[in-house]
Amino acid sequence: MHSTAATTGNRALNRAITQFFSGVARAYDTAPLQQVVYRPPQHEVVAELRAAGSRRIADIGCGTGILTSRIERELRTEIVYGVDASPGMLAQARNRSATVLWRHAAAEHLPIGDGELDAVVSTTAFHFFDHPVALREFHRVLAPGGLVAIATMRPSASAAALQRVTSSPLFPAHAPSGRATRKLLQDAGFEVTDQRAIRRFPLPPWLVPDMITIGRRA
Ligand SMILES: C[S@@+](CC[C@H](N)C(=O)[O-])C[C@H]1O[C@@H](n2cnc3c(N)ncnc32)[C@H](O)[C@@H]1O
Repeated sequence: MHSTAATTGNRALNRAITQFFSGVARAYDTAPLQQVVYRPPQHEVVAELRAAGSRRIADIGCGTGILTSRIERELRTEIVYGVDASPGMLAQARNRSATVLWRHAAAEHLPIGDGELDAVVSTTAFHFFDHPVALREFHRVLAPGGLVAIATMRPSASAAALQRVTSSPLFPAHAPSGRATRKLLQDAGFEVTDQRAIRRFPLPPWLVPDMITIGRRA
């Protein structure tokens, strides 16, 4: 079991992380990086939202808004929020849609009303959040029965070095194990309905070790 610090990463460094992303925002959309690392979890999130019929959706840690704007384009939505703590990433995102509600905010303090949404999603960002605090916010903004879908890094035996580094309380991110992620969701009031590795066929799963966890607000 990790200490509280190790389950949330070093919070003092979260500002440095979001400033880092502001600096790399233009390079972030480079095609190979997107195809190999970022798109596969986004495909899985879109499939989950489509299956659930979600219409009022927030993408937390939305970065340059690739997933957020795709959700708006491909699904029948009423409200779509894109929330990120990095001004540089959001500046890129704003170019993608004039109708997404882009919000400069932290996952831990969402500028969204209680019970306003029927889905909250996050891809490749949860490891930067204060997990219990962010999940309390996800729970607060969701209506009863609302969907949560979190795709994040998955520490595993094949990524033991990554696990050692990201478990340090000095590191600004922490990727909880699958089991720890399920417990975090349950502690926040979600029923966990599925958890699986992200598929990148024909690439082997160890190349980018990540997973998606799905839950419902109880
Ligand atoms: C690797 S990017 C992922 C972006 C996007 N979800 C994607 O799939 O391409 C991680 C994002 O998380 C954001 N982030 C980090 N900590 C955050 C926090 N506490 N609250 C909101 N956003 C945060 C960063 O600014 C960055 O844009």
